[in-house]
Amino acid sequence: MELIQTKKELREFRNGVRGSLGFVPTMGALHEGHAALIRQSAGENERTVVSIFVNPMQFGPREDLAKYPRPFERDLDICRETGANVVYAPDHADIYPAGFGSTVEVSGVGNHWCGASRPGHFVGVATVVLKLLNRVQADRLYLGQKDAQQAALLDKMVLDLDLETEVVVCPTIRGAGGLALSSRNQYLSPGEKAAAPALYRALMECGRQIKMGQTSPQKIAEIFQGLLPGYDGWRLDYFGVADPVTMSPVPVIDRKVRLLAAAFLGTTRLIDNISAGPGLEPG
Ligand code: PAJ
Repeated sequence: MELIQTKKELREFRNGVRGSLGFVPTMGALHEGHAALIRQSAGENERTVVSIFVNPMQFGPREDLAKYPRPFERDLDICRETGANVVYAPDHADIYPAGFGSTVEVSGVGNHWCGASRPGHFVGVATVVLKLLNRVQADRLYLGQKDAQQAALLDKMVLDLDLETEVVVCPTIRGAGGLALSSRNQYLSPGEKAAAPALYRALMECGRQIKMGQTSPQKIAEIFQGLLPGYDGWRLDYFGVADPVTMSPVPVIDRKVRLLAAAFLGTTRLIDNISAGPGLEPG
């Protein structure tokens, strides 16, 4: 496995790749969720590039950029063990040189949910991922369903901007009690860690109500709100019932939808989502 830190070296590597190239963008602090993406890419492509870059542009002024975990050596081990061929870990100036001033705005998909509660977040995500894709020139881009709105937004960006990359969305990897793995889970105290799976459990209960015939997003939101505050320390950011492609709120649940939620447990913001629909097993 090769560690590359500049755009120039990355281009040299890219020019030498003959078969298909898979790309897994990350912000590091890798866990089993990232590992699953890397393994899938390594299984489906001749070469796999993993990027590690904590992208300041997607963090709000009061968010956790400074304290975001950066266990770089451990991340390299995980990349090596899961079959990555290159780790691209650029520094800030390689991605955002002095004078940098262009951004990417994807309309529609980012309007609600995380887009509404984290202004500017998706502009930061789309801008850095487009830059990375332009450099990596990947045949396939591997994203996690854990960040469903991000995946839908990047899928639309790839379509709208004619990128020659196939977007592959991989299932959410969960830990004890169904808690979606996240680099931010390490901020949780032991008590919060024990409470955290309630977010997933509440989503699944809503999914079961939809399976059994509840078609009203308002009723489902009430059920969700009734479940979450039953546990100490939660502060709901949003809950929504959305179209899985456009990520717009649906007026009635008459087909497959995505249930999306974000909530603070203490100071840590957790997000999760599941698929649901009439007669469908949630998950
Ligand atoms: P990061 O949070 O590091 O996530 C990198 C990729 O791993 C994303 O596609 C995310 O959806 C996926 N992922 C995270 N947890 C997962 C889990 N439990 N199961 C499956 N996949 C999971 O998302 C970002 O970084 C950034 O926004 C990025 C796309 C790199 C742009 O900066």
